[in-house]
Amino acid sequence: CSITGLEALLHKAGLDTPVPVFPGADIVHNPQDIFRAYLADTLQRLIDCDRSVAYDAIQPSNVTGAGDLVVVSPRLRVKDVAPKDLAADLALKFPRSPPFSCPFVDGIHLRVLSSPNTLPRLLLPYINDRKASYGYDETIGLADQLNPEGGQRKIVIEFSSPNMASNFTLSHWRSTLVGAFVANLFDRFGWNVVRMNYLGDWGKQIGLLVAGWQRFASEDDFQASPARHLLHVFSQVQEAFKPEQESLKAAKGETKETAQIESHGIAAERDDFFKKMEDREPEALALWQRFRDATVTNYINSYARLGIKFDEYSGESQVTQASLDEVESVLKEKGAYEESEGFWIIDFSKHDAKRLATAKLRYRNGTTTYLLRDIAAVLDRYKAHAFDRMIYVAGAEQEMHFQRIIKALQLMDRKDLADKIQHVSFARITGLGPSFADCALLDDYLERCQSSVQEYMAGENPEDVFFKQDQDTLGSIGLSALQVHDLNHKRTTGYSGDVKTMMNLQGETGTAFQNCYVRLLSVLSEHPDDIDYASLDYSELETEDYTELLRIMAQYPDVAAASYKTMEPAGIVGYVFRLVDQLMITLDDEQDHDCEGRETLVRARMALFENARQVLENALKLLGVTPVNL
Ligand code: ARG
Repeated sequence: CSITGLEALLHKAGLDTPVPVFPGADIVHNPQDIFRAYLADTLQRLIDCDRSVAYDAIQPSNVTGAGDLVVVSPRLRVKDVAPKDLAADLALKFPRSPPFSCPFVDGIHLRVLSSPNTLPRLLLPYINDRKASYGYDETIGLADQLNPEGGQRKIVIEFSSPNMASNFTLSHWRSTLVGAFVANLFDRFGWNVVRMNYLGDWGKQIGLLVAGWQRFASEDDFQASPARHLLHVFSQVQEAFKPEQESLKAAKGETKETAQIESHGIAAERDDFFKKMEDREPEALALWQRFRDATVTNYINSYARLGIKFDEYSGESQVTQASLDEVESVLKEKGAYEESEGFWIIDFSKHDAKRLATAKLRYRNGTTTYLLRDIAAVLDRYKAHAFDRMIYVAGAEQEMHFQRIIKALQLMDRKDLADKIQHVSFARITGLGPSFADCALLDDYLERCQSSVQEYMAGENPEDVFFKQDQDTLGSIGLSALQVHDLNHKRTTGYSGDVKTMMNLQGETGTAFQNCYVRLLSVLSEHPDDIDYASLDYSELETEDYTELLRIMAQYPDVAAASYKTMEPAGIVGYVFRLVDQLMITLDDEQDHDCEGRETLVRARMALFENARQVLENALKLLGVTPVNL
């Protein structure tokens, strides 16, 4: 995909003058930038403005029928001419030559369309040369774009992170989907990505689990279904613990009373066991290890069904003593660590961060807190990975927690680390309807995906359905439905879902996207021969339907780049919807045409559909959706 290859391609597409050079244009990765560069050059000649002014006056349109590129005339900063008149004047003077067809005026905007002649000739070989990498500038992830030997930048992306022996919640579900997407984004844009699952496998609640284990465990049930049995034991002990919790609540944090209540009963068992774990007592650790191994095995399998593979199952238990010591000694040294009623705390309000209040780092009996472990985990991760960036994909309700981590690092004089880390947050899912209401493990979500799509499909007209309806395929379709429904919302938007909306065969759903993908596969399977791009008769592809499809295909790199900047998946879903919509229209229209005996047309449209398929595959995979097979 070099510049030289590109020049030959442009020449064949009828563009005889070299692409004008603009610093912002990335013609190797983005075909739209080729059009932008020609357009900016034309504008600059017409009004004799600064080249960068001309380039910056151009916007993408991304709306059907509203042009491919839009010149916003006031941005051209031409004095003494009304923007509307300027747009009209530009339209009159606009040269009739490739790669554009006749522009049209829309108020202060000049809407410019890429020509139906240039589009297929340029775009099909362009996409075919790039295939799975079409849409992504992988040099973005390089440490030094001018000196690729410097290697890739490294990013740790922590997501999903469920808690051992607790339900896999809707928040873990959203973290999994958004996290997988964010990890794919950085991966595609050339970063070295470490996908990390930070299990909630340590802390007082594990002590509580053990208190439950001693009362309610059944070795047989544990053998049969370890992860589920742990959940069962945990929910039973939570029930048994309720009366104590009520008294604790009534004590309203009153130090003496709280201490008194916690000194016996289940609370005491819980705290004692956790203390034994932290003191690394072999017996305690062996029991905990059994629980952890069972949990990890269960999750590895479930994530595999989702197409996710973590590079590391870290967890709160894995935080090293060395890093815990380092955090505490440095905080002490900087005067930011204090003892208060037997706890060790940071009073953030004393350090220009009133809103972060005070936070406990060690309990009275000397055990560590979630926060202390998390701060130390940053040091561990940096020692292991020397990351350039680190991202936590977790719910907005933990915002304050992550701000405290960052602030604590600043207090430790580790601004270098604090600046590298970021919380990518999301709002709550309020529910996914009755079918998903009692999901407790990730497996449950995956099973419900399958059963609900099966139920839903029963009401659909079989003529509209292109995918196979076996268990495996339906499972994947149902899963894509849930993924797409989630990723179609901005991260800051909470949502609820119901099977009917999520699974709909028409619309912005995973079901519709997969259905279209399979339909394409089936069309392509009719003519499986290799395509020779040099001898294609591109003139066959200049009709309206085909041109519109090509326009959308050309927009993918812009859409992907925008999503990389914001880490928002919704733009990609919206894009896939437009692509799928146009594909379905085109394929429906085609059914009325007779291609029989028209070899050149057949071959040209195969090239078109194969590349459309590739773009669709790229976008789906970026979302974390695995396209199903014929
Ligand atoms: N296990 C936590 C929970 O379920 C999420 C972990 C978020 N990441 C972190 N480094 N604290 O709420």
